[in-house]
Order: sequence, then C-alpha cells, then structure tokens
Amino acid sequence: MKPSILFVGAGRMAEAIISGLQNKKHDQIKDIFVTNKSNPTRLKELESKYGVIPKNQLIDRITQVDIIVLAMPPKDHEEVLKNIYPYITNQLIITIAAGIGPEHLEKRLPKETAVGWIMPNTAAEVGQSISLYAYGHFITDTHKQQMELIVNSIGASQYCSEEEIHKLTAITGSSPAFLYQFVESLISMTEELGMTKDVAQKLVTEMVIGSAEMLKTGKLPSDLREQVTTPGGATAEGLKVLKMGNFEQLIKNAVIATNKKAKG
Ligand SMILES: NC(=O)c1ccc[n+]([C@@H]2O[C@H](COP(=O)([O-])OP(=O)(O)OC[C@H]3O[C@@H](n4cnc5c(N)ncnc54)[C@H](OP(=O)(O)O)[C@@H]3O)[C@@H](O)[C@H]2O)c1
Repeated sequence: MKPSILFVGAGRMAEAIISGLQNKKHDQIKDIFVTNKSNPTRLKELESKYGVIPKNQLIDRITQVDIIVLAMPPKDHEEVLKNIYPYITNQLIITIAAGIGPEHLEKRLPKETAVGWIMPNTAAEVGQSISLYAYGHFITDTHKQQMELIVNSIGASQYCSEEEIHKLTAITGSSPAFLYQFVESLISMTEELGMTKDVAQKLVTEMVIGSAEMLKTGKLPSDLREQVTTPGGATAEGLKVLKMGNFEQLIKNAVIATNKKAKG
C-alpha cells in the first residue's frame, strides 16, 4: 500500500524532501500533506510547485496519514509532540531535527509508537545529501521501507545507531561548512594571484567538483593525493606547509568542538 505523508514544517528541508519524493518516488506515494505554523502563502507556494495538499490545521489529516515528518526546528518539537499525542494510532513519526533522536520522541509519544530520525545536510536541496538515519524500538519492516523511501529521495544514506548520529552529525552535517571555508580561502588566494572573483570562484569550484568525482570512483584519498604529488616536487612543498600547520589535527579539533557544542 502506498503511504500518505504529512510534513509538519514547510521550510527549506521540507521542500528538499518533498521535491526529491515528487521527482524520484512519486509512484510510491499516495498523498503529501503539508502544514506549518503561520504562513499560508508558503503552503500555497509548495502546492503550486509540487502538487502537495496544504493544511492550515496540524490535526486536520493526522489520523489518516501513514507517516508524519517533523520538519520544524528542534525548539518547536516539545509543543508539536504534545499536540499530536492524542491523535497517534499507528503512524510512523520521523524527525529531521538536529539533536532530537528516537529516544526523545519515544518518551513524548504514546507507548510503542514507531519513530525514526533522519539527519540530512544542506545538499538535500540538490538531491545530494549524505543522510544518517536511525530507528526507535517499535519499527516494523514496513516502517523501515517507508524510512528508506524518504531518506533515499534526497541522496545517499547510512543507517546508524542513535548515539552514532549524535557523534557523526559533525562530519556529515557541519563539515560542509569546513569545506566551504577551505574553498573561500582558495578563492581569496586566487584573487590575490590576479584573477577576478568570478573566475576565481569558477576555478576553485570546478577543482572541488572534479576532485569529488575522483573520490567517487572509490580510489583512496591517500592514493589520489600521491597521484598529484611528485616526491620532492612543488605540490609536496605545499603539503609540507599543511603538515607543519598540523592540518589533520586542526580538522579533528573542529569536529571535537562541534560535538562538544552540540551536546550542550
Ligand atoms: N536546513 C538544513 O540544512 C538542515 C539540515 C539538517 C537538519 N535540519 C533540520 O530540519 C528542520 C527544519 O529546518 P529548515 O532549515 O527547513 O527550517 P526553516 O526553513 O526555518 O523552516 C521551519 C519550518 O517549521 C515550521 N514550524 C515552526 N514551528 C512550527 C510549529 N509549531 N508547527 C508547525 N510548523 C512549525 C515553520 O513554519 P512558519 O514558517 O509558519 O513559522 C517553517 O515552515 C530543523 O529541525 C533543522 O534542525 C535542517
């Protein structure tokens, strides 16, 4: 049976998933309903773009859907979970919020509610997220298929334990910011070497895309690095500077700091 889905929250991430589902999985879904807090214009926009059904009231269709995706900020979960509690029968409840794992949901929903957690990253907007996902204790095989339907609509995915997602969000969710910082630094240097901002951005972006494609072949990053680096040559000299600046430890420290802050 094809599932119906209700999205609670109509922001950027909800749109990325809806777009992925409509583009790649529309034949596997019955209906998509969307609600938000206070912005009917946004619901109308999603209706015209993706053919979803806007709902101004959260509880309007809640008992008729198979999956509820909580796509609002973490701070709004407490209130929404309280509001939906009386209407939960056998729906699968999925959150995509940072820091809100299955344990948190199970504590706030009726006994034996099936719950799941998906942690996408911003590349979901272009269908290229690497998303982590975990299940609660009361998940059936059908729920697992439904979770996979959603998570795989926005890119690649990896099943993890809840504890692993808490630790790995820094790698898959936050590290794109570290990569963009690296890209910004190279663009700035390219401009210092005399190129315009546009040309600098093009050169660095294409270099990153090409390198990412090389990584996708499955070759080890260390082999790819060595392929570029003639021993004693110019690139080796640049790598020496990164080593002297403790590049590897610096990146590890950034991940450690991110996790420390996320824990609160
Ligand atoms: N963006 C990312 O890259 C990313 C990555 C991983 C995870 N996430 C998670 O995804 C979730 C959504 O992020 P986003 O970037 O899509 O946020 P967003 O663009 O700010 O959208 C938030 C949405 O939640 C709705 N909302 C807030 N409180 C609500 C309530 N009480 N009832 C119903 N709807 C409510 C808002 O409605 P109104 O507009 O009416 O206020 C809005 O539609 C967050 O939990 C975030 O942690 C995001």
